[in-house]
Amino acid sequence: MHPDCERILLTEEQIKTRVREVAAQLDKLYEGRKPVVVCILKGSVVFFVDLIRAMQSPCELDFMAVSSYGSGTRSTGELLIKKDLAANIEGRDVLIVEDIIDSGNTLYHLKKMLNRRRPASVNIVTLLDKPSRRQVPMEPEYTCFEIEDEFVIGYGLDYAEDYRNLPYVGVLKRSIYEGK
Ligand code: PRP
Repeated sequence: MHPDCERILLTEEQIKTRVREVAAQLDKLYEGRKPVVVCILKGSVVFFVDLIRAMQSPCELDFMAVSSYGSGTRSTGELLIKKDLAANIEGRDVLIVEDIIDSGNTLYHLKKMLNRRRPASVNIVTLLDKPSRRQVPMEPEYTCFEIEDEFVIGYGLDYAEDYRNLPYVGVLKRSIYEGK
């Protein structure tokens, strides 16, 4: 385990098993259709590549970069589009892939914005959900794991851009982000 981790929250094996289950549910949902699967950079990239490889459905891949966070741990409620989709999603089924939902602000604004482009459907799949932190109504259609309000890193999730390549989800030691 990484020395900055207090403990491992989700092991590689737990994540792999759950990702397979959710991929099977998505295959059922999109049977006979070809969704545009959208990776929300950067945090969801690891989950995204594992999820799409576990899915059997044909799909198109696209990427967006949005931001509602500074470098700290609190959400501001603002949404900044740093990179937009390449695809025209009008009439398409869109699957948004996120790593974590916290306040819900990012996806609340993102979903509203994408819906204005008149897609056939927009669904959200998230690796992690912290429902206790919600500030706006935002319910993902698919959640791999609901977690407590702890500072999690790894499997795509960062603290100040570190730890994204850890293969598991861990809880960051408080002393790291409190700078002690
Ligand atoms: C994280 C995460 C979501 C958002 C969730 O992204 O990937 O997009 O924050 O928070 P919210 O529910 O409070 O809006 P972040 O801005 O940290 O960027 P990153 O994915 O590049 O790390």
